[in-house]
Amino acid sequence: MVLRGHRCFPLKCCCWVLAMLIAMRPGISTQEFCSQNTEDDACKSHNLYQKANIKVLTVATDDNHGLQRFLRSAKVYNIDVEVLGQGVEWVGGNMNYAGGGQKINLLKEKINELMKSGNKEQIILFTDSYDVMFLATVEEIIEKFKSFPDTRVLFAAEQFCWPDSKLASQYPKTEVANPYLNSGGFIGYLPEIAEIVNYNPVNDKDDDQLYYTKVFLDKNTRESLKISLDHESAIFQNLNGALSDVQLTANSTEDWPFIMNVVTKQRPLIVHGNGLSKLTLNHLGNYLAKSWSMAEGCALCDQKRITLKEEALPTVMMAVFIEQPTPFLEEFLQQLLEINYPKGKVHLLLRNNVEYHETEVDEFFQQHSKKYATAKRIKPNDFITESEARNIAKDRCIGSVCDYLFSMDSVARVDPDTLRYLLSSGYDVIAPMLVRSGQAWSNFWGAINTSGFYARSADYMDIVYHIIRGVWNVPFITNCYLLNIAPFRTESAKDISFFKEDIDPDMAFCASMRDHGIFMHVSNELDFGHLVNPESYDISRTHPDVYQPCPDVYWFPLMSMRFCTEWIAVMEAFGQWSDGSNNDKRLESGYEAVPTRDIHMTQVGLDKHWLYILKEYVRPLQEMTFTGYYHNSVYRLFDLDYEGGGCRFIRYNCSVKDTKPGWLLMHPGRLTHYHEGLLVTRGTRYIMISFVDP
Ligand SMILES: *[C@@H]1O[C@H](CO)[C@@H](O)[C@H](O)[C@H]1NC(C)=O
Ligand SMILES: *[C@@H]1O[C@H](CO)[C@@H](O)[C@H](O)[C@H]1NC(C)=O
Ligand SMILES: *[C@@H]1O[C@H](CO)[C@@H](O)[C@H](O)[C@H]1NC(C)=O
Repeated sequence: MVLRGHRCFPLKCCCWVLAMLIAMRPGISTQEFCSQNTEDDACKSHNLYQKANIKVLTVATDDNHGLQRFLRSAKVYNIDVEVLGQGVEWVGGNMNYAGGGQKINLLKEKINELMKSGNKEQIILFTDSYDVMFLATVEEIIEKFKSFPDTRVLFAAEQFCWPDSKLASQYPKTEVANPYLNSGGFIGYLPEIAEIVNYNPVNDKDDDQLYYTKVFLDKNTRESLKISLDHESAIFQNLNGALSDVQLTANSTEDWPFIMNVVTKQRPLIVHGNGLSKLTLNHLGNYLAKSWSMAEGCALCDQKRITLKEEALPTVMMAVFIEQPTPFLEEFLQQLLEINYPKGKVHLLLRNNVEYHETEVDEFFQQHSKKYATAKRIKPNDFITESEARNIAKDRCIGSVCDYLFSMDSVARVDPDTLRYLLSSGYDVIAPMLVRSGQAWSNFWGAINTSGFYARSADYMDIVYHIIRGVWNVPFITNCYLLNIAPFRTESAKDISFFKEDIDPDMAFCASMRDHGIFMHVSNELDFGHLVNPESYDISRTHPDVYQPCPDVYWFPLMSMRFCTEWIAVMEAFGQWSDGSNNDKRLESGYEAVPTRDIHMTQVGLDKHWLYILKEYVRPLQEMTFTGYYHNSVYRLFDLDYEGGGCRFIRYNCSVKDTKPGWLLMHPGRLTHYHEGLLVTRGTRYIMISFVDP
C-alpha cells in the first residue's frame, strides 16, 4: 500500500510550531521576543494578533475529541485560544441538559483578572468548545462584529427559547429566523462583558444560557450595555433546528468547503453543534476548517498521520468474533495469520459462538496460538453472550495488556496491511471501510435521522463508491475497527459498554461512545477489503461455501492442474482457433449466434472423452442440484495465469471472479441466469463450455 506523503498543508501550521518554539525560549516571553523580531515569520502573526487586541476564551475541563477538533480549527485560522478550567473537576452538570453555571464562574475569574489591566477596548470572544469549530480568522470575526450597529456585545442566536420556553414572550418583538439567545458564543468589549458576568452570582450547577438570557431580557442592562443577538448567523451559526437552512459546499475546486445559511445568505464564521445537532457538526467537521477539499483530499488525515517505529511497535489485542455461520471461514482464519504485524506484539482473543465452525476454529487455535504473545479462546459452550465477549476483550485490553484493540468479525475480509494503516492513521477510533461487493451495504452509518434511526448521510454513496476519499467522522462503525485504548482508560469512560438491553452489541457500543464524546471514524483512503454476506449461508448444506456467492451457481474443483495443462497443450498444438465471427463452417447451419474464439472437441478427437466426463461426473451433480431444471449449461474453467475475467449473472447482479484452474462453474443458464463474461485484463484465459440439454 502506498500512503500519500505528509504535507504540512497550511503554512500557518508551520508558523504555529515556530510560535510554540518561541514561547518555550527560556527567560523571554513571546511578547518581548516578537516586539524585537518583527520580521520573524512566527512573530508576524503573533504581532498581528496583539494589534487586533482580542482575547479568545473557552472553558473545557475535559480533554476530549471535541476539544481537539476545536483547537485544531483555531490553529488552522491562527487563532490563539486560552482554555479555562483545564484539569478542574467539572461539576456543572451533563451539558445535554440544563447546567453550565461553572462556565460562567471560570470565565468571571478570568475577566476580572483582565479588567485589572484596564484595557477598555480589548475584545473578548467566548465560545463553547466541545461542539464548536472556527471557520475564519479573528480579523474576519472582528470585522463582522464591528459592522453590527450600536453593539458592544453580540450573542449567538437560535430558534429555540431554551431552557425556559416561557421566557419567549419577554423577548423584544422581531420577525427573524433565530429570535432567541444562545450562550454558546458571544463577542464584546471587556468592560461590558465584565458587567455581564458579574450581573448576579451564579451557582456552578445553574444553567448558563438561562443566566445570560435573564441579563438580555433585563431591558435596562440590555440597552445600557448595547447587547444584540446575531439573528442572521453572520458570525455564529447554531445548527440545532437550522439544518435545512445550512448548506455545505464541498465540491468547489477553488475554495475550501464552507457553509452558507441559505435563508439569511450569510457565510457563518463560527459553527456550533448545539443540542441535538452534534452529529451534524461531526459530519460537517469532516470538511470544514480546511479538513478536506476536492483539490487537497483529506488534509486532516495527512496532519494526523504518525509514523510507526519498527523498534517500538505498539501492543495490539486482536479480538476475533465469529458470531454467525460465515462463508469461507477458512480464508478468514488464514487472513488472520497473514496480517502484517509481528505476532509477538499481538494478544489473540478468539471468540467463536458457532458450533458448526468449532472444529475448524479449534484446529486453527491448536496450530497457531503459540505464535502470539498470548492467546485466549471463548468457545460456544462457554455460554457467553456476544456483548459479554466484546466487553471481555475491551476490558482485558484496558486492564493493561495492550495499547490498541483491533476487533474483527468473521464477515470482514481485509488486506494484510490494514492494521498498520489504522495504527498510523493517528485516529483513536477508526474502521477501514468494507462493503459487500456489488451492494451499498457497508460497515458504517453516516447519520442518524430525526426519529433516531441510523441513516445514510448525504455523502454516504460518494464514500461507499470512492467518489471521495478520506477519513470520516461517523456515528456508527462495525465489523472491523481499531481502538486506541488510552481514551477508554479514563475515569469518565469506565461505563462505556457493548451491553444495553435489547440492543445489538455494536449499536450499544457506538451509542455509548457518542454519549461520551468519543469520535468514531471510517476510512476509505485506500481499498481495504470487503464484507462477505452470511445471510444466504446455509449450514444445513454440505460444504455450504460452494453455494456462495451467487444463488444457484455452483462452483467446485473437478479437474487436476495436470489435466488442465495437458488439455490446453492439445488445443494449442492443434491451433485452429475460430475467428470469433458469426460465420462458422463447423456448424450445420453455418451460423454461430454467440461467437467466441474456440476449438470444438470433435476437431481434436476428444469429443467422446469429454462426453464421458460429463455423463459420469457432471450430470449426476447437475441432476442433484437442479432437480426440475432442464436447460442447464455447464461451464468448466481452465484458468491458468490471467487477471480479471469471470462470469457475471445479470439478473442477480453478482459475479464469480476468483475462479480457479480446474474448477467447475455450474448454473441454470439463460433461463434465469442470463450471463456475460468479464474482461480479462492480462494473459489468456481458457474455458471449456458445455450446454447440457437433457
Ligand atoms: C456542487 O454541488 C451543488 C449541489 O450540491 C451543485 O448545485 C453545484 O453545481 C456543484 N458544483 C460543482 C462545481 O460541481
Ligand atoms: C450491480 O453491482 C454494481 C457493483 O458491482 C453496481 O455498480 C450496480 O449499480 C449494480 N446494478 C444493479 C442493477 O443493482
Ligand atoms: C428514520 O428512519 C426510519 C428507518 O429507516 C424510518 O422508518 C423513519 O421514517 C425515518 N424518519 C425520518 C424522520 O426520516
